[in-house]
Amino acid sequence: MAYASFSQFLEALDQAGELQRVTTPVETDLVIAEWADREMKSPHGGKALLFEQPIVDGKISRFPVAINTMGSEKRMALALRLESIADLAQEIQLILKAKPPTDLREGWSLLKQGINLLHARPKHVKSAACQEVVHRFAERSTSDEVTLRELPILQCWPKDGGRFITLPNVHTRDPETGARNLGMYRMQVYDSQTTGMHWQVHKVGARHGKLYYERNERMPVAVTLGGDPAYTFAATAPLPDGLDEILFAGFVRKKSVELVKCLTNELEVPADVDFVLEGYVQPGETRPEGPFGDHTGFYTAVEDYPVFHLTAITHRREAVYPTTIVGVPPMEDFYLGSTSVRIFLPIFKMNFPEIVDMALPAEGVFHNLVFVSIRKQYPYQAFKVMHGLWGMGQMMFSKYIVVVDDDCDVQNTSEVLFRLCANTDPQRDSTIITNPSDSLDHAPTVQNVGSHMGLDATRKLPGEGYHRGWPELVRMNEETRKLVDALRCSRGR
Ligand SMILES: Cc1cc2nc3c(=O)[nH]c(=O)nc-3n(C[C@H](O)[C@H](O)[C@H](O)COP(=O)(O)O)c2cc1C
Repeated sequence: MAYASFSQFLEALDQAGELQRVTTPVETDLVIAEWADREMKSPHGGKALLFEQPIVDGKISRFPVAINTMGSEKRMALALRLESIADLAQEIQLILKAKPPTDLREGWSLLKQGINLLHARPKHVKSAACQEVVHRFAERSTSDEVTLRELPILQCWPKDGGRFITLPNVHTRDPETGARNLGMYRMQVYDSQTTGMHWQVHKVGARHGKLYYERNERMPVAVTLGGDPAYTFAATAPLPDGLDEILFAGFVRKKSVELVKCLTNELEVPADVDFVLEGYVQPGETRPEGPFGDHTGFYTAVEDYPVFHLTAITHRREAVYPTTIVGVPPMEDFYLGSTSVRIFLPIFKMNFPEIVDMALPAEGVFHNLVFVSIRKQYPYQAFKVMHGLWGMGQMMFSKYIVVVDDDCDVQNTSEVLFRLCANTDPQRDSTIITNPSDSLDHAPTVQNVGSHMGLDATRKLPGEGYHRGWPELVRMNEETRKLVDALRCSRGR
């Protein structure tokens, strides 16, 4: 069942004991970030926080700030209205099982058809909660009525270049096919009506932008904040270009997304969101963006990015401003990323039936570290899996891929490290390739390109150059384990 609003989601968090309301006034400049960072680093991701009186430029904003709303497994399941994330993975598996696809492309297209059949197609509406209050900006207006300055946008870290919108759902269209895209790209606030648009070169927003620049046409862009958290999840999910995130969100929330036309451009946005920032990107115009305390745990350097000009802000009368912070892990974004991995595991398994499980541990901040367990059947199968993953969408960024046998729990980092250290001869069991790198990764000598390492920590088979007879893992026998279970049980433990 879908949420009718972001506030309804906050109520659900409250009822589940997952929301802490902060009623005292708190500065949006660093203080909310420090408070949220401590919460995100508490056991199991702490609580979601609702700052009811955020201070912006010395004044209390009329919009509360919600942060860390998806920062735990429990809250992520609540956000998607699931008992457990595994339920959604199972639904995807069922779609794929209906007519097993022969390859990955067919798999995604089957998923697309399945999603369509599940009545996820959006509906178009004429009036919308997100347009209850409307502020249109005449071009080149210097008026400061309700502009970005009114929103409780955080400065997250001391050396950030300013305030950043950190949970923006950015809506664009392919000017050739009309295909929609929804991605999450942070936005640095430059002034009351202008921001940066940080879509990195590999992302779909950047591809759409390039098509507009080549035509020398102004690019319409709409940014939404809040609404059903399924939109935010869909914006971050690494869906292949062409799989419509709005359809996907409809599938996740089991209800068609109602779309309303923007007032100052031709894009459509979900009607139930809290805020809509309407505007455009002008071909060829860029501006220095950053520095920003990033999900890598380091500040990313200043770089030129496109500029987003606002033409209108519309919002719910009782809008809540959703945000997050990124930085040294673990942070809230870990739960968004790991939910994607779990939901799309059936798709990975479809291409690589030997895959048993996958994990992107928090320490690897998404792409830096990937653990995969496989049911190994033939020599060099671990290498086949690594190379396959490096060829799949955003998995191309994976800096280290560690492959282990299926009896190793990849969700347990220390178990994987034990296998890695014990089972590998570094020279024999590693491979280094050159691939596209995450734009934010500061380690490669050249931005966007870098080396990536695969480590095969599986037990070695004949044919893999190992002739000594692989040893057996030390384990207690079943009889003794049962005996000790019974003894401990009788002592109440
Ligand atoms: C909190 C958060 C912030 C993000 N910020 C950015 C960003 O500034 N730029 C970017 O290119 N990707 C960013 N991402 C990652 C993209 O949202 C993600 O790669 C998404 O799949 C891109 O969608 P697309 O493939 O439709 O472009 C962010 C992800 C999260 C969870």
